[in-house]
Amino acid sequence: MSRTARTVIRGGLVITAADEVHADILIEGPRIAALAAHGSQAAAGWSADRTIDATGKYVVPGGVDAHTHMEMPFGGTFASDSFATGTRAAAWGGTTTIIDFAVQSVGHSLREGLDAWHAKADAQCAIDYGFHMILADVNEHTLKEMDLLVEEGCTSFKLFMAYPGVFYSDDGKILRAMQRASGNGGLIMMHAENGIAIDVLVEQALAAGHTDPRYHGEVRRALLEAEATHRAIQLARVAGAPLYVVHVSAAEAVAELAHARDLGLDVFGETCPQYLFLSADDLARPDFEGAKYVCSTPLRPVEHQAALWRALRTDDLSVVSTDHCPFCFYGQKELGRGDFSRIPNGLPGVENRMDLLHQAVVEGKLTRRRWIELACAAPARMFGLYPRKGTLAPGADADVVVYDPHAEQVISAESHHMNVDYSAYEGKRVTGRVETVLSRGELVIDARSYVGRAGHGQYQPRGICQYLTGH
Ligand code: URP
Ligand code: ZN
Ligand code: ZN
Repeated sequence: MSRTARTVIRGGLVITAADEVHADILIEGPRIAALAAHGSQAAAGWSADRTIDATGKYVVPGGVDAHTHMEMPFGGTFASDSFATGTRAAAWGGTTTIIDFAVQSVGHSLREGLDAWHAKADAQCAIDYGFHMILADVNEHTLKEMDLLVEEGCTSFKLFMAYPGVFYSDDGKILRAMQRASGNGGLIMMHAENGIAIDVLVEQALAAGHTDPRYHGEVRRALLEAEATHRAIQLARVAGAPLYVVHVSAAEAVAELAHARDLGLDVFGETCPQYLFLSADDLARPDFEGAKYVCSTPLRPVEHQAALWRALRTDDLSVVSTDHCPFCFYGQKELGRGDFSRIPNGLPGVENRMDLLHQAVVEGKLTRRRWIELACAAPARMFGLYPRKGTLAPGADADVVVYDPHAEQVISAESHHMNVDYSAYEGKRVTGRVETVLSRGELVIDARSYVGRAGHGQYQPRGICQYLTGH
């Protein structure tokens, strides 16, 4: 029988959500076996098949991106990253787990949707992955199916107050799904925008000849995000269910979350790098370039960013995910030339999240530990993966990133690995860069060379949300 491979990472500053320590890490096979103070007798005595020198570098848990859409059918086309290309790009950016959204189509079962997403991802992924389920058709059968999915590790369900005619659920359906979740331990994730009102404003804008991408942001009013967030919170209270609001972008919506959390409710919020670093000014770029920035909720005027950063510090927003849903500018975003409502909604970003949040550390907006909490530990806890994922501790999966905090880079489509023909952050200079990535003890990125393989990534059944009282 072959001996378990041992890797030692020496000399780095180990950062988790809880601590910053100069420690060496011993990895045996797929898991972390031990941490010991750098220079200690214990660490000096470790023998290894491979030693990684992390002197002058950070050693952090692999990122957990809890919101991606690989190969998502949307807006008459498909998100341009496959599970193969998207998970490889994620690894390049220091993310070692994604939770993607399986889609239930109207008239079909949750089982069919989940099986279809397993078939897309199986043997394709460079890193580990789990699934949430998009609930597009709430009915007696699908409500019962929710229980089965929770039991088999798909423990969160996204509902949409937006996109009438596509994924939209009315308040009655939302309440029923929340009631079910309150009984089975599932977590309802909400796309909180009043889609019925937005569609009225879309129709009026187009009738007035307002067809450019910037009107996407204007009709999807901040107040309609706040109103939907408020309504989702009240429905969750009535159902006695926890609630996680995805891709929060408006200061007014943050205020609704903060109020709910001040009341002690199990209400959580997520934002994304695009809302922290981009704005409605990008949506207003000339010559249809604004289409590159069309996503929902939309990019907001720059004034909203201060409220988002503050909420990340106060934990009124607990998770930063990417909502990675890339569409190429040529051939895909172009579907909406002359009619902003036909531009496929979504932005690329799975490769950029860890670096952009580190840039926030460099700029003094977040501490290093909060960086790791928002990008690794909190998403793992929120979606039942902790401490297997999201931290560096004995027994945890050896998903480890050696991060060079001093390297400078310029983000660009020329050098990124996502399968999309533009970068939302083109030309942005950031300090810090991923150097080496291990997933369950195997090298995926080795000193900035990709050495991973499609099929290494394994499906991760998840437990229920670990932030709920009593868990
Ligand atoms: O624009 C976005 N966010 N596209 C992906 C689908 C969603 O609503 O998350
Ligand atoms: Zn959404
Ligand atoms: Zn999304």
